[in-house]
Amino acid sequence: MEYCKIFSFLLLIITKMAAAATSEHIPTTLEGPFLPVTRSFDPSLRRGSDDLPMDHPRLRKNVTSNFPEQIALALSTPTSIWVSWVTGDAQIGLNVTPVDPTSVVSEVWYGKESGKYSEKRHGVSVIYNQLYPFEGLWNYTSGIIHHVRIDGLEPETKYYYKCGDSSLDAMSEELVFETLPLPGSGKYPRRIAFVGDLGLTSNSTTTIDHLIANDPSLILMVGDLTYANQYRTTGGKGASCYFCEFPDSPIRETYQPRWDGWGRFMEPLISRVPMMVIEGNHEIEPQAANITFLSYVTRFSVPSKESGSNSNLYYSFDAGGIHFIMLGAYVDYNQTGDQYAWLEKDLQNVDRKTTPWLVAAWHPPWYNSYSSHYQEFECMRLQMEALLYRHGVNIVFSGHVHAYERINRVYNYTLDPCGPVYITIGDGGNIEKVEVDHADDPGKCPSAGANKPEFGSVCHMNFSFGPAKGKFCWDRQPEWSAYRESSFGHGILEVVNSTYALWTWHRNQDIYKENSHGDQIYIVRQPELCSIGSKGTRALPSKLPSNVGATFMDPLLATLLCCLMFFLAWFERNK
Ligand SMILES: *[C@@H]1O[C@H](CO)[C@@H](O)[C@H](O)[C@H]1NC(C)=O
Ligand SMILES: *[C@@H]1O[C@H](CO)[C@@H](O)[C@H](O)[C@H]1NC(C)=O
Ligand SMILES: *[C@@H]1O[C@H](CO)[C@@H](O)[C@H](O)[C@H]1NC(C)=O
Ligand SMILES: *[C@@H]1O[C@H](CO)[C@@H](O)[C@H](O)[C@H]1NC(C)=O
Ligand SMILES: *[C@@H]1O[C@H](CO)[C@@H](O)[C@H](O)[C@H]1NC(C)=O
Ligand SMILES: *[C@@H]1O[C@H](CO)[C@@H](O)[C@H](O)[C@H]1NC(C)=O
Ligand SMILES: *[C@@H]1O[C@H](CO)[C@@H](O)[C@H](O)[C@H]1NC(C)=O
Ligand SMILES: *[C@@H]1O[C@H](CO)[C@@H](O)[C@H](O)[C@H]1NC(C)=O
Ligand SMILES: [Fe+2]
Repeated sequence: MEYCKIFSFLLLIITKMAAAATSEHIPTTLEGPFLPVTRSFDPSLRRGSDDLPMDHPRLRKNVTSNFPEQIALALSTPTSIWVSWVTGDAQIGLNVTPVDPTSVVSEVWYGKESGKYSEKRHGVSVIYNQLYPFEGLWNYTSGIIHHVRIDGLEPETKYYYKCGDSSLDAMSEELVFETLPLPGSGKYPRRIAFVGDLGLTSNSTTTIDHLIANDPSLILMVGDLTYANQYRTTGGKGASCYFCEFPDSPIRETYQPRWDGWGRFMEPLISRVPMMVIEGNHEIEPQAANITFLSYVTRFSVPSKESGSNSNLYYSFDAGGIHFIMLGAYVDYNQTGDQYAWLEKDLQNVDRKTTPWLVAAWHPPWYNSYSSHYQEFECMRLQMEALLYRHGVNIVFSGHVHAYERINRVYNYTLDPCGPVYITIGDGGNIEKVEVDHADDPGKCPSAGANKPEFGSVCHMNFSFGPAKGKFCWDRQPEWSAYRESSFGHGILEVVNSTYALWTWHRNQDIYKENSHGDQIYIVRQPELCSIGSKGTRALPSKLPSNVGATFMDPLLATLLCCLMFFLAWFERNK
C-alpha cells in the first residue's frame, strides 16, 4: 500500500518533470553552466544496423553512362556555388583501365526562371585511382568527376539549373536551389543541419530522411562520410576480418564503389541544398605510394582557394552573418605549420560586424566524456585552443564519437562563460554502432595505450585541478559535460539574431513522435562580457569568472517540485 502510494507519487513527479521539460521554456546558455545530465541508451533500440547493399534502390546507379549522377552543391563565395557530379562508370577489380576525363565536358546552365538558363559555365573533369600494391586486393578507377563554379548569384534567390555535357545530349533534369543571405545583411541561413559519422546503413537512412523533414538550407558534414574502408574490405570477398585475410598487406583496402553509392544516396538532398564537408579519419584511405585523402579531395569541391587556404583539408566560408572555420585534424595542426598560420590570418580577417557568429568544426572532439576517443586529440587542443578562444569562437561542432554530447562553455578544461559551446554530433548512424560507454563509468576509463589518434601524437593528461585532480578520468560525469545521450540523430541550428541561436538535437527515433527533440537550447553570445579587442582578440582569463560553479535549475521545475512536496505532505496527513 505505502510503497504503491510512493511509487504513484514518484510517477506523478516524473510525469510533471517531463511535461515541464517539454513546455515552452527553452534554456539559454546564460543560465549555465548546467549540472551534468546523462541519458543512456534506449534498450528498445538495436545499437546499429548493417550497411545497405550496393543494389539498394538508393545506392544503385539509375542513369545511362554519360548522364550526370551524384549531383551535389557546395558554397564557394556568398555569390557563387560549386556544382559537382559524376558521369561514366567506375571500375573495380584486378584489371582496371582509367577513362579519359576529357571525354565528357563539364557544363552548367542556370538562371532565375525555370526552363530559361541565361548563364552557362564550364569547369573541370577529373578522375582518380585507388591502387593497392598487394596481391589479391582490388584496384579502383573512378567515373569522371565534374566540378563547375557558377557565379554572379543574387542572395536569397531561387536558381534553376541543369548540368552535364550538351554536346553528348546528356544534360540532367532541371534542379533548383536557393541562395543564402549575404554576410553583413543582418540575416542568417534559415536552418543549418549538422551531421557526423553518417555512413551508409539503414540508420543513416533514418538520419537523412529525418534531416530532410527538418528542411535545412545548408548542411555541415563533420567527417567520416561513407565508411568505404569498412565494406567488403577483403578483395571483394566480404569477409569480416581484413587483417586475417591479408596479414602481410601494408595498408588496409577500401571499397571505393561505396563513395558512388553515397553520392547517389545523398543526391536528392544535396543537389538542392549545399553541403559543406570536413574530413574525418575514414577519409584518409591510404593507398599505394603513400597517397591519402584522394577520393575525398577529388570528389568534393570546397572553398579552400576562396578562403586563402592552399589545402582542401581546411578552409573557411561565410553563410549570412556566420563565419565558419573548417579545420583539419588529420593534417599538421601544429603552431609551426601551414594550417595554423592560415587559421591565424583567417581569424584576423573576421569582421564581427559582418559575421557576428564564429563557428568552427573539425572531426575529433577536444571535449568528450565517452570512452571512445577520450582525450584522443589533446595535442591538437594544446596547439590551437588558445587561438580560437582569443578570437571568440562561439560554437564548435565535432563528430568521431558515435553519440551526442553538449559541453558547457569551457576553456582549457575550466568552465568559462566566454569559451565556446562544444557539441559532438557523431551520431549519424554508421556501421560501427552507437557508443554507449562513458569514461567515468566503472571500469570504462580507457587505458593509457588506448585511443591513439590516426594522425599526430598522444598528449593524454591527468587533470591538475578539480574533482578529478591527479586522475585520467572523472569518477562521475565531468562538470564540463552538460548533456550526453547515446542515440543516433542530427542537429539543426537556427540563428535568430546577432546574439541568439537556437540549437536542437533530433534523435532518429523521435521522427515518429511528432518530431520531438532530444536536446534544445539557445546559445547566446555575450559580446559585452566577452569583448574582443581592437586586434580582433581578447586576453586570456587571469582568474576564474565569477559565475563559474553556479548551477542551473529551471525555476518552473523548482516551483513544481516544491508544490508536489507540499501536496505529498498534505495527502499523507489526510489519508
Ligand atoms: C538502427 O536501425 C535498425 C534497423 O532499422 C534498428 O533496429 C535500430 O534500432 C537502429 N538503431 C538505433 C540506435 O537507432
Ligand atoms: C593495383 O595497382 C598497383 C599500383 O599500381 C599495382 O602494383 C597492382 O599490381 C595493381 N593490382 C592489380 C590487381 O591490378
Ligand atoms: C536516380 O537517383 C537519384 C538519386 O537517388 C534520384 O535523385 C533520381 O530521382 C533518380 N532518378 C530516377 C529516374 O529514378
Ligand atoms: C610511406 O610512408 C612510410 C611511413 O611514413 C615510409 O616508411 C615509406 O618510406 C613511405 N613510402 C613511400 C613510397 O613514400
Ligand atoms: C607537432 O609537434 C609535436 C610536438 O611539438 C610533434 O611531436 C609532432 O610530430 C608535430 N607534428 C607535425 C605534423 O609536425
Ligand atoms: C591550461 O591548464 C593547465 C593545467 O591547469 C595549465 O598548466 C596551462 O598553463 C593552462 N593553459 C593555458 C593556455 O591557460
Ligand atoms: C594518472 O592517472 C592514472 C589513473 O587515472 C594513474 O594510474 C596514473 O598514475 C596517473 N599518472 C600520474 C603521472 O599521476
Ligand atoms: C535576439 O533575440 C532574442 C530572443 O528573441 C532577444 O531576446 C534579443 O533581444 C535579440 N537581440 C538582438 C540584438 O536583437
Ligand atoms: Fe571518426
